[in-house]
Amino acid sequence: MKYMSGNELREKFLQYFAQRGHLRLPSFSLIPKNDPSLLMIGAGMAPFKPFFTGKMKPPCTRITTSQRCVRTGDIENVGRTARHQTYFEMLGNFSFGDYFKSEVIPWAWDFLTKELELPADKLWVSIYPKDEEAYKIWTEKTSVNPKQIVKMDDNFWEIGTGPCGPDSEIYIDLGEERGCGSPDCAPGCDCDRYLEIWNLVFTQYDHTETGDYIPLEKKNIDTGAGLERLASVIQGKPTNFETDLLYPIIEYACRVSGVQYNQAKKTDISLKVIADHARSIAIMVMDGILPSNEGRGYVLRRILRRAVRHGRMLGIKKAFLADAVDVVADIYKGVYDGLVERKDYIKKVINIEEERFHLTLSQGISLLNEEIENLNAKKTSVLDGKIGFKLYDTYGFPYELTDEILHENNLTLDKSSFDKAMEQQRDRARKARQENKKINIPDLRGLDVEKLKADSTAKTAKVICIWKNAQVTDTLQDGDEAGIILDVTPFYAEGGGQIGDCGKIISEMGKVDISNTKKLPNGTIYHIGYVSEGMIRVGDTVKIAIDETKKKASARNHTATHLLQAALKKVLGNHVNQAGSSVTPEHLRFDFSNFEPVSQEQLSAIEKLVNEEILKALPVEISYMKQSEAKKQGAMALFGEKYGNIVRVVTIKNFSMELCGGSHVTNIGEIGLFKILNETGIAAGVRRIEAVTGTTAYKYINSQLSSLDILATLLKTDHADLINRTTSILNENKLLKQQLHNVKDVQAKIDSQKLLLGVKTHGNVNVVTGRAAADNIDELRNIADTTCAKLENGVVIIGAVVNDKINLVVKASDNAVKEGVHAGKIIRESAKILGGNGGGRSNMAQAGGKFIDKIPAAFDKALEIL
Ligand code: ALA
Repeated sequence: MKYMSGNELREKFLQYFAQRGHLRLPSFSLIPKNDPSLLMIGAGMAPFKPFFTGKMKPPCTRITTSQRCVRTGDIENVGRTARHQTYFEMLGNFSFGDYFKSEVIPWAWDFLTKELELPADKLWVSIYPKDEEAYKIWTEKTSVNPKQIVKMDDNFWEIGTGPCGPDSEIYIDLGEERGCGSPDCAPGCDCDRYLEIWNLVFTQYDHTETGDYIPLEKKNIDTGAGLERLASVIQGKPTNFETDLLYPIIEYACRVSGVQYNQAKKTDISLKVIADHARSIAIMVMDGILPSNEGRGYVLRRILRRAVRHGRMLGIKKAFLADAVDVVADIYKGVYDGLVERKDYIKKVINIEEERFHLTLSQGISLLNEEIENLNAKKTSVLDGKIGFKLYDTYGFPYELTDEILHENNLTLDKSSFDKAMEQQRDRARKARQENKKINIPDLRGLDVEKLKADSTAKTAKVICIWKNAQVTDTLQDGDEAGIILDVTPFYAEGGGQIGDCGKIISEMGKVDISNTKKLPNGTIYHIGYVSEGMIRVGDTVKIAIDETKKKASARNHTATHLLQAALKKVLGNHVNQAGSSVTPEHLRFDFSNFEPVSQEQLSAIEKLVNEEILKALPVEISYMKQSEAKKQGAMALFGEKYGNIVRVVTIKNFSMELCGGSHVTNIGEIGLFKILNETGIAAGVRRIEAVTGTTAYKYINSQLSSLDILATLLKTDHADLINRTTSILNENKLLKQQLHNVKDVQAKIDSQKLLLGVKTHGNVNVVTGRAAADNIDELRNIADTTCAKLENGVVIIGAVVNDKINLVVKASDNAVKEGVHAGKIIRESAKILGGNGGGRSNMAQAGGKFIDKIPAAFDKALEIL
């Protein structure tokens, strides 16, 4: 075994595979491209997913890389074991439908035993239990001791969705003295004895979003060997942290803290955490990740804050992580040029984030210590998530940090109440952000606005002034909602009915999402933004990216508004005047004076006229002239709107001419389609038209058509026949209703005949009781009337059950009433028995009830009262 530096080892690996026909590529950035399933690159194969699945053709069917990776799943193990790191490099060789197991197994074996001269008798291999093929190749094509091949059920490798398959791992036995001593200790054991140094994945499946494992058309190879682990073996070091890829950072941390390595377990852990984390954050920032409360930026923040805390545990009171970048850059000299080239920038980002945390760290720690004492005093072991959330929100403690500190004290954090507090906070922030559209503006009278410019072609600008919570400030951090003024801006500011542009502004150190652009009363343009990553400061130079899709959609709606106004005048008359207008990317709304609703024919004519104009595809001409000249030429202008002496005139030849400062398409053909959604009245003499254009109009028409599709399917016909079919179904329906009515009449007569058969006499009165088949109270009354008409001195008491409820009707003939019968009184008592109530006049009464089995008792009661 020959000593090699980490950098030499990387080089040796890449050359070895280059000699075997592999294209050697540099490491990809940690930020995945076009892969929303991954937050960060965590394996050598991750950037190659589309090559494995066959979605893209690789530049070569054999590729080798040493890929930068970050994994934080086991972050709490970092520093405690010999091999856990958040950042590591994965040496890999990949076959995209090229070689397979019988080539890759001997290559890996030879690289380890011949190139690195690792002792073969110390190497162990694991395979997937069903993989006989791999077993055969290992035993026939390499000198591995068959007794050192173990079968493991979990030898199947995957990361998120995408390519995956069974794998075979190579371990090195580092000696009994490194082991846990358990009789079961073997490859795969958590202890440090058997170190996994290489994984060969036989990539045969695509794990889809829906959870299926689809066999891939071609078989592939994906291998991964941890550079730091191999280095620890080659360099004869007890852990990865003593290799030349990490140890200089430990030495640095020793210098800053005055603590010595190898003195105590606790301080060693902290030194290792700092070494690992300092390297991770330097490389993450090199790759363009900025601190934030979401996504990758949050991972960066968590790692950095964890390192700061361990620095504190070693007694480091000042910011120290930025200077560690010098050490990291030195380790990777000639390998990661970005670390050297962007060193100042990386140090700045880290320093600002670190200082920010230092400000609150000690307060947070003492709060947490108090809480820990409280819990111990109360003999409870779970800290309320609300306190955890306060530590997060006020003192910048990532959840994991609080949880880890609690764990060190044998306590835990209540995750569910933490999550709840977090969710409530997000809701508040969301609401506040919506309300913030009317962001409070500080006193900006002192601002020199002379040199500020609007320029639609500007691509970069300088930050002149920023504020948050109505206070001018010079720095914004991620999570801040703020107002921003630039020296020059291409953003259109809300006005003339059109909402302001949105987009992004990006500085070297941060990103701001701009949700609207407005004007101060003096005309100064300002932007309303949310800092999503990093930070932004007065004086920063920023790149500008307007959301062009939205802007174009607004422009379509704005130009269409001009066409609409002209068409309204042509169709309805010259009295039509603008009374209000709103232009957004989604729609246009135009209010105008007109004393009566616009008829359907008029609306069709207006819509047709506008669309005919659009089809002419004329250019939109923008010109500047004196206001008097514009008026002379007949330009439309809004009475009361302030225009300067020189005005901007928007003309569509032979159709429309308006004074307007808004955004427009260059050619009206770009509007595509104009579709009126509705016409309504909003005040006396004021009407409103809402309309859509472009892609929104297209989507609108499509959704209408798909409703028709559904209707046609339901009615078992096609679009062309839909009206005929619907009319005939409606006619048929009318006829059926009539027929049903007739049948019910006949049924009523039959029912009444049946009831009459059971007539009984009470004194002078003839009484009929019984149940009838009526579907509603009207039908029941009808039966009662028909029956009663057939009786001298008659009283009819009938009930029917409809939807598990009882309807009861009592009808008395005029003679019976004269005899003293009162239908209302009878029904009141009977209804009580049915668990309901009712009432009525002396000759007719009705009731409802619910106890169906009590109907006979109710009739008895009625007779009793009678
Ligand atoms: N992609 C495999 C791993 O990360 C090689 O272990």
